[in-house]
Amino acid sequence: MKILPKGFIKLDQKFHMTANEVANAVDTNDFKTAISLYSEMTQSCLSCHSAYANDRFKNLKTKK
Ligand code: HEC
Repeated sequence: MKILPKGFIKLDQKFHMTANEVANAVDTNDFKTAISLYSEMTQSCLSCHSAYANDRFKNLKTKK
């Protein structure tokens, strides 16, 4: 997996971890936590798109 940039892998791991936590919270009927984690997870979508897919999502700006 050396082709992918380190930052991308980091963001991807964070995303998957948070998605997993959302699933766990839902499994234990902890919907309050699930909602808060869900918003954290969608933030992950945005962070990655603004860094690595801003040609696809033109309104997102790269933070630099
Ligand atoms: C770790 C990085 C990363 C994360 C996290 C991520 N994406 Fe993406 N996403 C990408 C990249 C890169 C592309 C552009 C792919 C391309 O241009 O071929 C993309 C493209 C997309 C597209 C467009 C697909 C298309 O056919 O044009 C959608 C929709 C999308 N992502 C939704 C999401 C949603 C919803 C989430 C969160 C739940 C998410 N993504 C999380 C990196 C990510």
